Amino acid sequence: MTRVLVTGGAGFIGSHVAERFLAGGHTVTVIDDLSTGRRENVPASAEFHALDIRSPEAAELVRAGGFDAIAHLAAQIDVRKSVDDPVRDAQINVLGTLNLLEAVRRAGRIATTRVVFSSTGGAIYGDAAIPPNSEDTPKEPDSPYAIAKHSVEQYLSYYARIHGLRAVSVRFSNVYGPRQDPHGEAGVVAIFCGRLLAGKPFTVFGDGNQTRDYVYVGDVADAMVRATAYDPPKSAGMNARAFNIGTGVATSVVDLASALMRVAGRTVPVDFAPARPGELQESSLTITKAAAELGWRPSVSLAQGLASTYAWFAERAPTSSPSRG
Ligand SMILES: NC(=O)c1ccc[n+]([C@@H]2O[C@H](COP(=O)([O-])OP(=O)(O)OC[C@H]3O[C@@H](n4cnc5c(N)ncnc54)[C@H](O)[C@@H]3O)[C@@H](O)[C@H]2O)c1
Repeated sequence: MTRVLVTGGAGFIGSHVAERFLAGGHTVTVIDDLSTGRRENVPASAEFHALDIRSPEAAELVRAGGFDAIAHLAAQIDVRKSVDDPVRDAQINVLGTLNLLEAVRRAGRIATTRVVFSSTGGAIYGDAAIPPNSEDTPKEPDSPYAIAKHSVEQYLSYYARIHGLRAVSVRFSNVYGPRQDPHGEAGVVAIFCGRLLAGKPFTVFGDGNQTRDYVYVGDVADAMVRATAYDPPKSAGMNARAFNIGTGVATSVVDLASALMRVAGRTVPVDFAPARPGELQESSLTITKAAAELGWRPSVSLAQGLASTYAWFAERAPTSSPSRG
């Protein structure tokens, strides 16, 4: 039984990660400022603190908490907001992370604490890379958000090599599942579920042939828990202590839309809008390293994952009468 801190545990992925740790018999504390997360997402048996990761109070909680592991998911997650305000993005995603890591170091726990960091496999490699991308693919991040994730991976590698921190980064592809916020722009599955339930058309930007690697949130939470127990060699650099977490399967937006309508047993029209500037055309990850070293593989197929996600949104949707297809 270990003491685990989950930052961002009121959010979409973090709440599933908190549940997994609790199910494994660990004690879980959650820090979240509820900026995009929701209090009701936090599992009832987790201890909750409404704190900003940049604050002295959060640092004090980490210093005094004696955590064996930190699953770090709290972040400003919106790529466009990072473009609009790179300073704020870096304040949260880089300096907020350093605030927590320095608290661990000052508490004298740097060599005994495990840190697993939620990085991005969708954005860190950049547009120049030709998918599927492996962990060693050169990185030319195209947004402040991705630059911040890249920087934190470098800091973790530094803390590991110089101070002995046991740090691992997990680079997620496009995560979907229950509790994803349908109002953001990141979660196309959540947005499509909401539109389908309201009987409103889907909007697809560009020709819809752009691909993404969609991975179910339960599989991502499982990967994060496994990564917490992984010990990379102390000398390992950034890539050697990172794992791509996806499915390795590239799915186009139009195929995703059809697959969702199929599992839902409902159809709505698909409208096409001009492509959004800067959007990646293709994105997928190789996941052989996570399979070999973490014993992790995605266990939920796209059809199964879409069915459970749709069912979750349907249970919470206001009554509507979309056309049946
Ligand atoms: N969703 C994806 O497809 C995806 C892909 C790659 C990486 N990630 C990463 O996974 C992590 C979780 O993302 P998510 O999709 O669950 O998003 P989310 O917005 O649901 O979760 C982020 C959580 O962090 C909290 N938070 C934000 N700023 C904070 C601050 N300053 N202090 C304390 N808490 C703060 C929010 O309230 C929220 O609960 C993020 O680090 C994100 O960058 C997500």
